[in-house]
Amino acid sequence: MISGRKMQRWRIAAPLFQRTRMIRRTGFAKPAESSIPALRDAVHPVRQHLMVARIVEESPSTKTYYLKPSDPESWIAPFQAGAYLSVYVADVDDTEAAPICRPYSISNTPDEAQAENAYAVTVRSQPGSFIAERIHRTWQPGVSMAASDPQGFFTYEALRDAAHVVFIAGGSGVTPFRSLVGDILTHVPDVSITLIQGASAADEFLFDEDFQKWEKSEPARFRRITVLSGDDEATAETTRRGFITASILTEAQDRGKADQPTDFFVCGPPAMHEFVNQEIAALSRPPRRIRREDYGGSGKPSNKPPCSVVVRYSGRDDEVTIQADPGETVLVALERAGLIVPSGCRTGACGLCRGRLLDGKVEYPAPPSGLRKADELGGYFHPCAALPLSDLVMEIPAEPAEL
Ligand code: FES
Repeated sequence: MISGRKMQRWRIAAPLFQRTRMIRRTGFAKPAESSIPALRDAVHPVRQHLMVARIVEESPSTKTYYLKPSDPESWIAPFQAGAYLSVYVADVDDTEAAPICRPYSISNTPDEAQAENAYAVTVRSQPGSFIAERIHRTWQPGVSMAASDPQGFFTYEALRDAAHVVFIAGGSGVTPFRSLVGDILTHVPDVSITLIQGASAADEFLFDEDFQKWEKSEPARFRRITVLSGDDEATAETTRRGFITASILTEAQDRGKADQPTDFFVCGPPAMHEFVNQEIAALSRPPRRIRREDYGGSGKPSNKPPCSVVVRYSGRDDEVTIQADPGETVLVALERAGLIVPSGCRTGACGLCRGRLLDGKVEYPAPPSGLRKADELGGYFHPCAALPLSDLVMEIPAEPAEL
């Protein structure tokens, strides 16, 4: 005889047993973990472990590195054209030293990357370049490194952006545009592109063959204007001499339909941004029509004495004191001192390096776009965009132990 309470329990449990029996009969195996976190980890992994698969020499100063997953069974995280990777570059001469993080735009298109299961990052090394020189010297096929998932907002969105875009590139700032041009021409119909490509030497017009190929295959949708600032002989008759001026920008803008807006995308070194910003201002474009990708400078020359910076890691008891040059960003000072600091954009936009300023003053040569009013009120600041104005006491996030 089953008691009333037991009968009640049986009535509740019976359908569950029945359902389990039916599922078993189908042969369906329950996944070991929920598919939502697995999908999140595949699309936005905290770290990707990559290795150099092959290297292409693009110019005397520039190489493209194809980075594949170290584990041949895994896949690179997907990305939108125009995204960048933050790559941790180790010091092979000092294995004790913390790897330094640098953002590099992905120069192959998402289709090309998926087909080869590899990101292409194009690195230009110039005299005095600290990390790029280290990459050129030490990255060989088989060398491993950690990287972030693809990040950034320098992407083309058909719903938001104009049907005619002018891409303005200085030197290696053309890297995201190679990906964007290839991707837009393949996947976004009815959008036309004018690329203004500036270089300091005739043999530094990167991806020349690809751009020529696209100009031939899509003459109505893609056109390139090359601008050479150096003194050497230009390889193409059509190449302009000097800098990217307002008259060249106007000519590019006029390629769009008269009744439709044009959007400008700018990427290049800080000096080029400064010059082009003034020239674009002459065109009186609304700010929302201008997008910029700037990986941030390391600071500006200063003859003031160094400041001391006491660094505390959140959640830890220890602290270190380092010296910071008032002419360099606080992030660069931390990295020079060998401290690992999470970073991504290096322009104050992504918030990865966000820290708390417990004492002292900093200044921002360019206001960081990702620093909200609430952050400022809470004493937070972005070391990648801040120059020290006095001795500082700061707290930064502790980097995950494993890179
Ligand atoms: S690295 Fe992105 S805000 Fe500092």
